[in-house]
Amino acid sequence: MPDQNTMLSDYDRYITHLFAKEDTVLEATREEMNKGNLPPINVSASEGGLLHLFVRIINAKKILEIGTLGGYSATWLARALPEDGNMISLELDPHHAKVSRANLEKAGLSGKVEIRVGPAMKTLEEMQVNGEGGFDLVFIDADKETYPDYLRMTLPMVRIGGLILADNTLPPSVLDSSKDGGAIRYNADVAANPNLVSSVIPVLRGHLDGLTVSVKIG
Ligand SMILES: C[S@@+](CC[C@H](N)C(=O)[O-])C[C@H]1O[C@@H](n2cnc3c(N)ncnc32)[C@H](O)[C@@H]1O
Repeated sequence: MPDQNTMLSDYDRYITHLFAKEDTVLEATREEMNKGNLPPINVSASEGGLLHLFVRIINAKKILEIGTLGGYSATWLARALPEDGNMISLELDPHHAKVSRANLEKAGLSGKVEIRVGPAMKTLEEMQVNGEGGFDLVFIDADKETYPDYLRMTLPMVRIGGLILADNTLPPSVLDSSKDGGAIRYNADVAANPNLVSSVIPVLRGHLDGLTVSVKIG
């Protein structure tokens, strides 16, 4: 009998093979991340396919991402946008931003995705001062401790009916009531927010992880 992690990676491979096969552009994006010494902490292909699906389900035209890394999830997301759609992705590390810009250029997406460099909380404050908002979909995938603050900042910037997605929200610590952490607080916050309807979808990246999905209803 295979152990649980082996079985989960088999399921991940099955889903990826059927629904989220990488093309040469996505493969090259990961290769360039590797060459640039970026950590391999991007979403899995199967989760990338799920992100792409959410964009299409709600006909999103305007996406905000927090945490670009090498542009892997940005590629899955931006490829689902219509011709006149666009995306802003926030990244702290200038080297990550440089690698992701080059990757998005090669993917033919540089006209659609703008990378803004700096601490995301500061960039979000600037965006609010400039009246930027009306996003259809927000994808939060940066420093976990700040997730509750990212929720507080982005909620007013999302349209009613829009989605807020947050990655890595099923760490084992969610099962231990003595533990605290950004993902635990984030899940509790969205669950308690009367302006959101939310759930956590288990996602696979070899092992089990979670994507919290919230729709803004008020
Ligand atoms: C998990 S990776 C993002 C992965 C990417 N979404 C993907 O799947 O391809 C997290 C990224 O968030 C960035 N980051 C960490 N803290 C940040 C902050 N305070 N503001 C903006 N970006 C931050 C890291 O430099 C890293 O590139």
